Amino acid sequence: MTIEPSTLLEAAIEWAREAGALLRQAYGGAHELERKSPIDLVTETDRRAEELILARLRQRFPDHAVLAEESGAFQARNAPVRWLIDPLDGTTNFAHNYPFFCVSIAAEHQGRLAAGAVYDPVREELFAAAAGAGATLNGAPIRVSSVQRLEDSLLVTGFPYDVRENPEPHVKLFQAFLTRAQGVRRDGSAALNLCYLAMGRFDGFWESKLSPWDMAAGVLITQEAGGRVTRFGGETFAVDGRQILATNGRIHPAMMEVLRSS
Ligand code: IPD
Ligand code: CA
Ligand code: CA
Repeated sequence: MTIEPSTLLEAAIEWAREAGALLRQAYGGAHELERKSPIDLVTETDRRAEELILARLRQRFPDHAVLAEESGAFQARNAPVRWLIDPLDGTTNFAHNYPFFCVSIAAEHQGRLAAGAVYDPVREELFAAAAGAGATLNGAPIRVSSVQRLEDSLLVTGFPYDVRENPEPHVKLFQAFLTRAQGVRRDGSAALNLCYLAMGRFDGFWESKLSPWDMAAGVLITQEAGGRVTRFGGETFAVDGRQILATNGRIHPAMMEVLRSS
């Protein structure tokens, strides 16, 4: 049986809002912190939000496959749909009471991104897209910016959790863009970075060592808002490809050139 992207999106939005309410409730309180590595944190709220989403998902779509950050992969045999879930993107921000984090939920249908929802419970901003149906912010259509030149662009990036062991490549690229763009930000949620790009607050985003759940929903939202998403060299983007260059399209060649020569 085929399943419509709009049906998947409806479910993603419902679960993202519900998990987002849980994050909002827990935000600002004391957090039990665990470390996956020296700077990679996880709180009990990450786990509770993920459990909530998985419970809803299993009830509604018991035969779908899942890849969720805190619980890993459940590969139902011949599943037509795979869900990609980050219950709390921006955990370091959340743990420090810095109000920039979100829930990110995407669905692939037969290997292609079909639906994505990203919810920021602090600003109550719900970004959403279904394949072929455009992207929205709280129900209103969004488009990428029309900035033409890298020199006039506001860019954003992020650093991976092994940055202490290997800072050089990230610092090099940061410096290269800092000296070419109007400004560069690093604000700790790849999913929200992509959504901000999709609605024109940023003009370009690059990052490496990301996971599928960080990127999937935001990538579809960016593409549906008219943006371009590739690997650093312009090659086809893949959710499990660990690397992303996403732009308003216009500054893509200039960003590729900086990535190539830095
Ligand atoms: C992280 C955020 C951050 C990015 C990291 C991600 P998490 O996800 O998206 O912006 O730079 O690479 O791992 O751990 O907060 O879900
Ligand atoms: Ca994440
Ligand atoms: Ca996370």
